[in-house]
Amino acid sequence: MHTGEQYHQFMLASPRDRRVRERFQKLALDLLPAGAAVLDFGAGTGIDAKTYAADGHLTFVHEPSAAMCEYLVQYCRDEITRKTMIAVASPLACKVQAVTANFAVLNHFADHTSLFEELSHVVHHGGFVLASMLNPYYLGDARYGWWRANVMNLLRRGHYAIASESRIHRFTPRIVARAAKPHFLLERLIPHGFGWATDPYMFLQFRRT
Ligand SMILES: C[S@@+](CC[C@H](N)C(=O)[O-])C[C@H]1O[C@@H](n2cnc3c(N)ncnc32)[C@H](O)[C@@H]1O
Repeated sequence: MHTGEQYHQFMLASPRDRRVRERFQKLALDLLPAGAAVLDFGAGTGIDAKTYAADGHLTFVHEPSAAMCEYLVQYCRDEITRKTMIAVASPLACKVQAVTANFAVLNHFADHTSLFEELSHVVHHGGFVLASMLNPYYLGDARYGWWRANVMNLLRRGHYAIASESRIHRFTPRIVARAAKPHFLLERLIPHGFGWATDPYMFLQFRRT
């Protein structure tokens, strides 16, 4: 188990994770209209939230882990003081153009139906949800027994969970898209082609219908 600060330092020191984060942030910022409000759901220590706030977006953060929150409050002290960043105990406490969930937040859920239902009250019509999730096809994981043991579950059911990973769930994009309906439409999926084998994360962009 790591503290919020350890997580923060680890993520910033990892070149691979920094590259993934930069791509995710660029996607989010390119999609966000100027000045639009955003909710960073499962914000961790506030790394993305700080970037969104710096770009002029009123940024709400929702983070259930006390350790993550504790470090977020330190790292984003200035933004919180200036009220360009606002911590919310529930996503329902804000109304925004976009919800972002970077680095596997949605892999903590066994099913996303009620989450998307909740987010339908949070995101304006025409707004979006952008999530990065663990890529269940990533071949870098094929060296692990749990990956090989679950390939058939993935192909048959589109979903499996591993108890040894604190019940982190892996999904095919189709299963998440089904849970998002009827409130959200999956309109963009990254990677493409060979990236399905080589990218550890997939980005899913949902439009609020
Ligand atoms: C790998 S961290 C990613 C943190 C942050 N988004 C980032 O980019 O660094 C996964 C986060 O999901 C959060 N999380 C777990 N279950 C959650 C839930 N039910 N609702 C919201 N966030 C959750 C955890 O507390 C953790 O901060």
